Amino acid sequence: MGWSSVLMATMMIASSGAVTYTLPMTYKADIQVEYFRGANLTCDSNMLNVSQNFNNIESIQWMLPDVSLITESTNTIKVIKRNMLAYTLMIDRVADDQFGYYTCIIVYKTTMVNENAEVKVVRWGLNINGPDFSKLRAEYARHAIVGAIAAGILLGVLGITCVIWHYRYNARKRRNEIKYAANASSEYNNKAYDDIDIEKEKSHNKSNGESADSVVIDEHM
Ligand SMILES: *[C@@H]1O[C@H](CO)[C@@H](O)[C@H](O)[C@H]1NC(C)=O
Ligand SMILES: *[C@@H]1O[C@H](CO)[C@@H](O)[C@H](O)[C@H]1NC(C)=O
Repeated sequence: MGWSSVLMATMMIASSGAVTYTLPMTYKADIQVEYFRGANLTCDSNMLNVSQNFNNIESIQWMLPDVSLITESTNTIKVIKRNMLAYTLMIDRVADDQFGYYTCIIVYKTTMVNENAEVKVVRWGLNINGPDFSKLRAEYARHAIVGAIAAGILLGVLGITCVIWHYRYNARKRRNEIKYAANASSEYNNKAYDDIDIEKEKSHNKSNGESADSVVIDEHM
């Protein structure tokens, strides 16, 4: 939120040179609200201090997005009054119909010094750039992270599977080679060879993790 900009009453609209109309001082702020949440729009700004100057104010009117003017509650919008003035608009559930500009028109009392009633405007843009999806985005990001972790774990599992498969396959292959080489010897001796070979492979895996990784990438990824 925050008072994003103050439009000074310098904008002069000259229509065909004959009539000059000066726009009242306008204090603008935008508010972004989630769907179906409530919103309170107050006819005030840090620069106006309306709540401290009620006595100087003749009237407060609100212009709704459909450009109707209200000073009393309607079916959809509650007017919360202070000092008999329509100080706050309370919207229970903000849906698309409620998006738009809410303009509060403050008419100050005329004084001896200033006979022309001063008018000031507070304009709220409610979900002008769409509703607040920040929570939804955060939720989506959380899911994305969980998804990424799950994907990471899956890759890890695949990687480990590849390593295991590679060395088991290699161990078996080498065992078979040894079997062929030692064809002349007895079955009993072959088994002894196999066991020694497997033990060798195991210690190799442990001591040389780096080469194990590169092997996995070459052959399976
Ligand atoms: C709006 O004001 C009312 C009354 O003061 C309060 O109960 C409600 O919680 C407020 N809503 C929001 C969204 O601040
Ligand atoms: C508004 O009120 C605050 C607190 O009373 C004060 O510090 C500030 O100067 C006032 N601003 C104006 C523009 O009256």
